[in-house]
Amino acid sequence: MLYALSIRPEPFSMASDSMQVFTPEEQKQLPKHIAIIMDGNGRWAKSLGKPRLFGHRNGVKNVRDIVNAARAIGIPYVTLYAFSQENQNRPSEEKSGLMKLLQEFIKIELNGMQRDGIRLRAIGDLRGLPDYARKAVEDAIEKTKTNQSWNLTLALNYSSRQEVLQAVSSYCESQDERNGELTWAGFAEHLETKDLPDPDLIIRTSGEFRLSNFLLLQAAYAEIFVSPLHWPEFDRKAFEDALREYIRRERRFGKTSEQLTTQNSLPHSS
Ligand code: FPP
Repeated sequence: MLYALSIRPEPFSMASDSMQVFTPEEQKQLPKHIAIIMDGNGRWAKSLGKPRLFGHRNGVKNVRDIVNAARAIGIPYVTLYAFSQENQNRPSEEKSGLMKLLQEFIKIELNGMQRDGIRLRAIGDLRGLPDYARKAVEDAIEKTKTNQSWNLTLALNYSSRQEVLQAVSSYCESQDERNGELTWAGFAEHLETKDLPDPDLIIRTSGEFRLSNFLLLQAAYAEIFVSPLHWPEFDRKAFEDALREYIRRERRFGKTSEQLTTQNSLPHSS
C-alpha cells in the first residue's frame, strides 16, 4: 500500500529581501544557475525505518525550502533533477507515488508561481509521464510562460544522452547544418536548455560523485559540489555553505590563475 501522499501545503513564499546572508561583494560572485541532483530520499527514509515515498514526500518539502532560499538569495535559475529516464525502471508503486507528488506539487504551487512571476520549464521527454502528471506540468508551463521574475526548471523523464541525440537530429535537419558551420553556440540552440544559461554550480546530495546522465554538455564548466547529506536534510544552511564554497573556488575556464588576476576578469563576476 502506498504511504499517504499528502504534502504539507506550504507554497512558495514571497522572496524576502531581509535574507542578506552574503555581502554585496559575495553576491556579485554567486552562481546564476544552480542545477541540483536531489539524491538520497530513499536512504534517508530507510534510516528512519520509513517507506521510500516518505523520503520523496519530504524531498518535495525540501524543494520548497531550497527554492525559497535561492529566490531570497537572488539566484535567478534553479534546475531540479526530479525524474530521470532511468528512474522508469523503478517499481511501479514508487513511480506512481512520485508522479502523484509531482501533480500535487504543481497544483499547490501554480498560484504562487503566478503571483511571484516564476516561470516553470521542463526538460525531458514528457510523453513518458502518466497523462495526469504531464497535463499538470504542461498546463503550468503554458500559464507561466510570460513570467520573468524567476526561473524553475524540472528535469522530468530526462536523459542527457537522449537530449544530445535529439539535438543532433534537429541540427542535421536545420538551416544551420546547410550553412555548414558547426559551432557550439549554434548546436546548443538545439538542446532543450536553449533558453537557459549553462549551470554554474551542480549540487548533488547524498555523497555520490557522478552526474548520472544530467546536463552532461551544459555542465562542461560547472563547479560540482557534493554534499554528504541526503536531500531531505539538505537545509538552507547546507545550501548557503555550498554557495560559500562556490564563491571560494576560482573558475579559470582554461586560463591561468595569474591571467585572471592581471586581467581582473573573474568569469563569474562579469
Ligand atoms: C533520487 O533519490 C531522487 C529521485 C529519484 C526523485 C527526486 C524527487 C523528489 C525530490 C521529489 C519530486 C520533486 C518534485 C519537484 C515534485 P532516491 O530516492 O533514489 O534516493 P536513494 O538513492 O537513497 O534511494
